[in-house]
Amino acid sequence: MKKLFIIANWKSNKTEVEAKNWLQQFTIYNLSRGARSTGQFTNKEIVVCPPFTQLSILKSLIINHKSNIKLGTQDISPFDAGSYTGEVNGEQIKEFTDYAIIGHSERRKYFRETDELINKKIEMAEKYGLTPIICVSDQSQISNLKSQIHSLNLKTLIVAYEPLFAIGSGNPDTPNSANEVAGEIKKEINVPVLYGGSVNSQNVNSFTQMENIDGVLVGKSSLDPEEFFKIIENA
Ligand code: PGA
Repeated sequence: MKKLFIIANWKSNKTEVEAKNWLQQFTIYNLSRGARSTGQFTNKEIVVCPPFTQLSILKSLIINHKSNIKLGTQDISPFDAGSYTGEVNGEQIKEFTDYAIIGHSERRKYFRETDELINKKIEMAEKYGLTPIICVSDQSQISNLKSQIHSLNLKTLIVAYEPLFAIGSGNPDTPNSANEVAGEIKKEINVPVLYGGSVNSQNVNSFTQMENIDGVLVGKSSLDPEEFFKIIENA
């Protein structure tokens, strides 16, 4: 059975109290299915990427609930510690998480992130032992990633293929088309490739059953703990 990554991207949503409620609800659904702890999904790696402000509370709750949910961030500074107002660097992130989403299309669009900047962020993830979840939406971003990866010595890396039309639109790519792109990426870089864009509990399995797709990156549907739980169950 292949290992699946089910990754929640909360984007700029939830207060600390809401994050706490989400985790409590999620744990209740999990336990109600007869699991002794949230360790029941043996072939599934569950990663929640909240805003930075919620990492601390979620980390303590995960420890208290003996949950095997992992945390990730939605970004990483391209710099080390220093005078970079507003940035959170790799060393700080490593205190809370093992994963960092890099190059999400919303960062490219609203914050003008370029391939060059994204490459620096990937280097920082490598430096601090974080697994980057690198988002790509089109062929030019895929080509940039290929050349960048070959020049680095990354031990672990995940690529998320997220076509722009599918993000937040309720209009996902077809599983066949996503599988084809994932296959092309894998030909060049042999890493787990996820699909992202309007994934929900009804369509998740049509993607995860495809040969080249190793999981999903979920935005909107991860905000509701019950729906996210169903996504994990159905994947
Ligand atoms: P969506 O977002 O699931 O709301 O389409 C996915 C993403 O942007 O990662």
